[in-house]
Amino acid sequence: MRDFYPEDMKLRNRIFDAWRSSATASGFEQYDACVVESLELLQRKAGEEIVNQIYAFEDKSGRNLALRPEMTPTLARMVAARQGALSFPIKWFTIAQCFRYERMTRGRKREHYQLNLDIIDEDSVAAEAEVIYTAISALRRMGVPDSAYKVRVSNRALLSELLVSLGIEKEFHSGVFMALDKKGKIPREEIEGLMRAENLDDSACSAAFDLMDISTLEDAEQIAGESSPSAARISELFALLADYGVADQAVFDISVIRGLSYYTGIVFEAFDVKGEFRAIFGGGRYDNLLSAIGGKPASAVGLGFGDVVIGEIIQSLGLEETTSLECVAIGYMTDDERSVATRLAGKLRSEGRNVTLQTRPAKAKAFFSFAGANATHAVFIGPDDRLSGKANLKNLATREQTAIDLV
Ligand code: HAM
Repeated sequence: MRDFYPEDMKLRNRIFDAWRSSATASGFEQYDACVVESLELLQRKAGEEIVNQIYAFEDKSGRNLALRPEMTPTLARMVAARQGALSFPIKWFTIAQCFRYERMTRGRKREHYQLNLDIIDEDSVAAEAEVIYTAISALRRMGVPDSAYKVRVSNRALLSELLVSLGIEKEFHSGVFMALDKKGKIPREEIEGLMRAENLDDSACSAAFDLMDISTLEDAEQIAGESSPSAARISELFALLADYGVADQAVFDISVIRGLSYYTGIVFEAFDVKGEFRAIFGGGRYDNLLSAIGGKPASAVGLGFGDVVIGEIIQSLGLEETTSLECVAIGYMTDDERSVATRLAGKLRSEGRNVTLQTRPAKAKAFFSFAGANATHAVFIGPDDRLSGKANLKNLATREQTAIDLV
């Protein structure tokens, strides 16, 4: 698990601030829930890596509980519980702490935070466009250039159409998706082995694998048929992203499938263009999850945007914040000045300024070296200042001094 020292919190706060402000600017409302969730809600059918990564435990009364590995089941539970009272579509966001027992590599930790943006009960592809745009807007607020990443978009429904055209029946598709999602992570033979375990014969496995070589939406349409509704949905999404002014950041990529089985339509994942890092964010349409957990049927679209990968990218691009928060350091020479220093701190704080007040008398040299490391401004009060009722407020960057009344 992670410890966040003050220098780590600077980066984390910067990411969270960008997430919160972009979500709010797009009209998403914030929600939250406990990190402990019922294990049953989180466990779906096997084949998903995430199910094996759950930190689960039994509480004192024998309930099976877990630390959530993702927020989506919790969101579905919360929405289902108030489905009659909410007015849809809803646009909600959260910054959720999640836990996964993963093999720790670059970009993957056992604890991470995720911005989740979800729109419930909106069938139009405008929902996909809105969540993708909002995630891009967060990246812009962090100073990440548009050219540094691409959002790779596909549609599970299109892949389904392609599998049907190969003679592979719908009942096998979920297993095939989970197997093909492993492309690039495990060898082809193992992926075909996973598909054979789903009762696909050798030629079907091989043909399904070859679908991953389709490189353009036009090529996919040729196989699926000109009137493919799921290819048309992708084109519609790209046209909308152009209206948002983010067309250049989106590309078609048939191999984006996603490792979670609840997705039903458009799926997407954002990666850095150099391919050095893991996914920045990922999501898609999941129209059956509400009904699967006992709610009324409702369509849904959302994404998860983790803090770990983007933190690594910000550092690799040298985008760390260099300016520090404005703060006045107040120091004093002897115990006799403590009272006047404390009163000055109170006055400045009540005016809305940040003040770090020294807790003991100090020599000027030691105080100014502390102030240089922790503040933007400094006031050092000696006996003469106390007697005259005036001191100097020094701007540590410009060295400029202004007289300040002591209280
Ligand atoms: P996910 O792709 O599993 O999707 O995770 C979303 C993002 O969380 C990833 O792209 C990555 O940035 C981050 N992430 C995931 N696991 C880790 C980890 N072990 N360490 C660091 N970062 C990680 C979901 O979780 C879906 N529930 C997202 C969603 C919301 N779909 C619809 N609504």
